[in-house]
Amino acid sequence: MRILVLGSGAREHAIITSLLSENAGHEITAAPGNAGIAAVVEVVALDPTNGSIVRDYAADNGIELVVIGPEAPLVSGVADKLRAAGIPVFGPNKAAAALEGSKTFAKRIMDAAGVPTGRAVRATSHEQAIAAIDEYGAPYVIKADGLAAGKGVLVTPDRNAAVAHADYWLQHGDVLVEEFLAGQEVSLFLLSDGESVVPLEPAQDYKRAYDHDEGPNTGGMGAYSPLPWLSEEFVDDVITSVALPTIRQLAAEKTPFVGLLYCGLILTKQGTRVIEFNARFGDPETQAVLPRLVTPLSGLLYAAATGGLGRLPYPKFSGDVAVTVVLASEGYPDSPVTGREITGLDAASAIEGVHITHAATAKLDGKYIATGGRVLSVVATGANFGIARGRAYQALGHIRLEGSHYRTDIAARVAQ
Ligand code: AMP
Ligand code: GLY
Repeated sequence: MRILVLGSGAREHAIITSLLSENAGHEITAAPGNAGIAAVVEVVALDPTNGSIVRDYAADNGIELVVIGPEAPLVSGVADKLRAAGIPVFGPNKAAAALEGSKTFAKRIMDAAGVPTGRAVRATSHEQAIAAIDEYGAPYVIKADGLAAGKGVLVTPDRNAAVAHADYWLQHGDVLVEEFLAGQEVSLFLLSDGESVVPLEPAQDYKRAYDHDEGPNTGGMGAYSPLPWLSEEFVDDVITSVALPTIRQLAAEKTPFVGLLYCGLILTKQGTRVIEFNARFGDPETQAVLPRLVTPLSGLLYAAATGGLGRLPYPKFSGDVAVTVVLASEGYPDSPVTGREITGLDAASAIEGVHITHAATAKLDGKYIATGGRVLSVVATGANFGIARGRAYQALGHIRLEGSHYRTDIAARVAQ
């Protein structure tokens, strides 16, 4: 199949790695990709958020499936343009992508569908925000309504910081003040063709920058999959209580969701609650989920894009576990230092069970250079978490990037 993958992160590298592992002769192009992606498939320098450009490229090049990786093209309506041109696309139209693009839209859909989530108040002014902050009390949870590149959410015991965060984001739009929910977090990905859903295996993401969940929120510093501490019924329960009601609600509102429904869940004492929805594969969870997928990914994505997903059996996963650790530039997440050289990648990938997915990298004069905050995801599989973790950290020991940092506790709680 001729497949175009939009995006330039480790998630897209992981999707491409999974497609290539099928050995099915797919012709894959990435736009715009990164240095790691360019080492394995063709890359084209086109703006992935420009729907007309993407559609014309796909039409001119006989693309049979477009896979949209990040949220920005979804929210800007790239899938709409492709669908209107009859090109199969994995990723929802703009209206359904509002599930991620607007937290108040997501809350409304959850309310209408009876999906369990935390209580929240939408504030459009300083006074409303203060009233909600004092109604819920500490710890405070303040969220920007729209996309904010991981910077929109603040969870803090400090009332002044909560008010300042609300005031800042009120300049850009509405703000959501939420009740604080305590518990383990789970990321569950479900493919959908707009009617039915097919689950992948759950993963856990590490959102804070530093060990022991300290420091600022980030895009994600590591992940592991599967989650041995989950009950056997967990996935089916989420399908019944969260995913299907949401998909049906969106279909009933004539905004069917075709693509990946990412359920960000928290296991509270009162039961499972949705913290957020995303409209695409999660990063870095994808790097821990897809290496274990045995069923060919292309068939799942194509069935979601073209319908008939409900006729497929649930995908199969290997018995191995996977751990992924993100290597971040100095200063990430606040102000990452870029332009520095990365070395040791060959020695790191030579370790059994290890492969490296690139996020923010470029190649300059034959050298790999870091071009952003999250630079690489080091992925390791193994028979158990002790082995996989050991391999991932051994690999990181070989990689040099001045000033870089990574968490040392990824999957520690499940490793023997
Ligand atoms: P989000 O961008 O909505 O996923 O939020 C980022 C992170 O903030 C989540 O992964 C949680 O760790 C935390 N968070 C968000 N909402 C809440 C909440 N209502 N209670 C506790 N923590 C939250
Ligand atoms: N890992 C969090 C996200 O992809 O949004």
